[in-house]
Amino acid sequence: MPSDLLEHKIFSIDGTPPSDSAVENYSKLRLLSLKVDPASFGSTYEREVAFSKDIWFKRLSSPFKQTFISSVRDDDGNDRWVGTVTILAPSELLPSTVEPFQRAGAAEDWDLYFLVAMWVHPEYRGKGLGKELVAAGLEWARNNRDPKDDPQGNREKVIALLVRDHNIGGRALYEKMKFEYLVGVASDDEKDLWMTVKCS
Ligand SMILES: CC(C)(COP(=O)(O)OP(=O)(O)OC[C@H]1O[C@@H](n2cnc3c(N)ncnc32)[C@H](O)[C@@H]1OP(=O)(O)O)[C@@H](O)C(=O)NCCC(=O)NCCS
Repeated sequence: MPSDLLEHKIFSIDGTPPSDSAVENYSKLRLLSLKVDPASFGSTYEREVAFSKDIWFKRLSSPFKQTFISSVRDDDGNDRWVGTVTILAPSELLPSTVEPFQRAGAAEDWDLYFLVAMWVHPEYRGKGLGKELVAAGLEWARNNRDPKDDPQGNREKVIALLVRDHNIGGRALYEKMKFEYLVGVASDDEKDLWMTVKCS
């Protein structure tokens, strides 16, 4: 627990279906992240602000991914959502996402998970919330059983992510969480770096 945040919690958006308020809060948080830090993400505010409620709803309803939220209690006693990360399990991944790993022969021995949409509100950065969110995601991946995971459990569970080379904060966070740079796997943009961590 970050020491200087007295009223703070981290939780996953559960429930099938997710509640209307969770969908509303999440869409606001995600749109804010895209607006505040456009250079950190592959998607854009302009693209996602056009999403219907149904798209946001589906985004939070898949059994093959988990979204975590960091919230703080504000002066009025309300819980304010200030951070998020999503972990995608193998069944959630598009073939085109996995293909560069297959082409590089990098994932034969892996059950490949992805970490995406990582963000902490600027007012709350540097307090350990990012590390807590990543730790929660790693823990979920470690315990998750995906239909595409190796049933014998012989493959190693690995979480991959893309980070922009100029993203000092993101790289510092992931390095602290023991992610290592992965070379030899292509990315769409040469400014994107692959990082992976084993979480079996
Ligand atoms: C990257 C981000 C999530 C970090 O969140 P955070 O809550 O500030 O991270 P933490 O407080 O848990 O810090 C994690 C570690 O990284 C270090 N760190 C974080 N930001 C840093 C920065 N800008 N420069 C240097 N180190 C930094 C911290 O010092 C800490 O190290 P420590 O354990 O030695 O103290 C946040 O800056 C952010 O949302 N950035 C914009 C969006 C983004 O880049 N997302 C990632 C896309 S791949």
